Amino acid sequence: MNLKQTLFVVVTILLSVACTVKKTGELDMDQALKYCHVQVVRTLSEIGTADSIPRNILKDQTRWNLVPVSVTEWTVGFWPGILWYDYENTKDEKIKKQAVRFTELLDTITRQPAYDHDIGFQIFTSYGNAYRLTGKEQYKDALLRSANTLATLFNAKVGTILSWPREVKARHWPHNTIMDNMLNLELLFWAAKNGGGSYLYDIAVSHATTTMKNQFRPDYSCYHVAIYDTIDGHFIKGVTHQGYSDNSMWARGQAWAIYGFTMVYRETKDPVFLRFVEKVTDVYLRRLPADHVPYWDFDTPDIPNAPKDASAAAIVASALLDLSQLEDKAVLAKKYEQAAIDMLTSLTNNYQGGKEKPSFLLHSTGHFPNHSEIDVAINYADYYYLEALTRLKRLGSHNFVPN
Ligand code: GLY
Repeated sequence: MNLKQTLFVVVTILLSVACTVKKTGELDMDQALKYCHVQVVRTLSEIGTADSIPRNILKDQTRWNLVPVSVTEWTVGFWPGILWYDYENTKDEKIKKQAVRFTELLDTITRQPAYDHDIGFQIFTSYGNAYRLTGKEQYKDALLRSANTLATLFNAKVGTILSWPREVKARHWPHNTIMDNMLNLELLFWAAKNGGGSYLYDIAVSHATTTMKNQFRPDYSCYHVAIYDTIDGHFIKGVTHQGYSDNSMWARGQAWAIYGFTMVYRETKDPVFLRFVEKVTDVYLRRLPADHVPYWDFDTPDIPNAPKDASAAAIVASALLDLSQLEDKAVLAKKYEQAAIDMLTSLTNNYQGGKEKPSFLLHSTGHFPNHSEIDVAINYADYYYLEALTRLKRLGSHNFVPN
């Protein structure tokens, strides 16, 4: 090799190292949002005129698996919600038209009796964003109807919402409340502020207070499911449904807890919830692996060979951006914002679907013990990723350097 050739090789290596550092070390938020828009357009063209919802792309697949709109399908709100966030960021009227189309497909869900607590996920992610961005009365009515439906599952003796009516008999869980249910309190808080009646606020606060008291271990990790007695309302035991074991920290369960109690503090301004969510967050952050994206359960013995759950990371990133704006201690506010940026940087640079698949993210785990949706692309990971990027955009800065 002559001098010229050697120089060329050295410069090429140096350039590629520099690019790699940039690629793994920084978050270009505008670029990430543009990428999400490209993936949304790809997904829309893949769905065409079908009246169904993209739910997942399995590990060996490259196209979305679609599911019909039904009260039994908990994820149907996330795709319309993604379209609303993309519309919010791009102001693209074609995207708005599709957001309207997919949201209104869910009208049927708002007119049925409660199947389970998931009506909150289904309707607040779709109609909640639709009303926020359009102010249309029709959407407000759908939200109020749905809040009243969710409230029918409240058990005053226990003080929480019954998450899964079907499991009362099937598993002999007389009254069961799952941590995921915390997210659905946002629909009740919203409805109470928008003409739905103060009892909806009271139900949400009772649910959060009872959950805070019973559904956490001394280290502030949570049980996925709390089982209560329906006669005197006492807490019987905490168990798991989607985690590794009854006493393990299921990553998405802890993510729901962080997101849920942050939102409850935002809505109530009761400092008890703020001090509590700090502790719930602390155990999650302390136990995270180096790339800020958890394994599907923090206690699975397969670590470091266990599948990751990018959806948990996206949920927590979004929650921590919210929490960073609510926190009254400056050091913690900065810590939460930085942690969220670290998570989004990792997801953006190492977990994107890219050219291979039309999802935003890869590597989420739905229900490991059921052997279902392991290491997949899934619509709720994409929803919370885009929500987090949108929250970051609202904070005003555009380029972020992780710790
Ligand atoms: N809410 C169901 C789940 O997180 O998988």
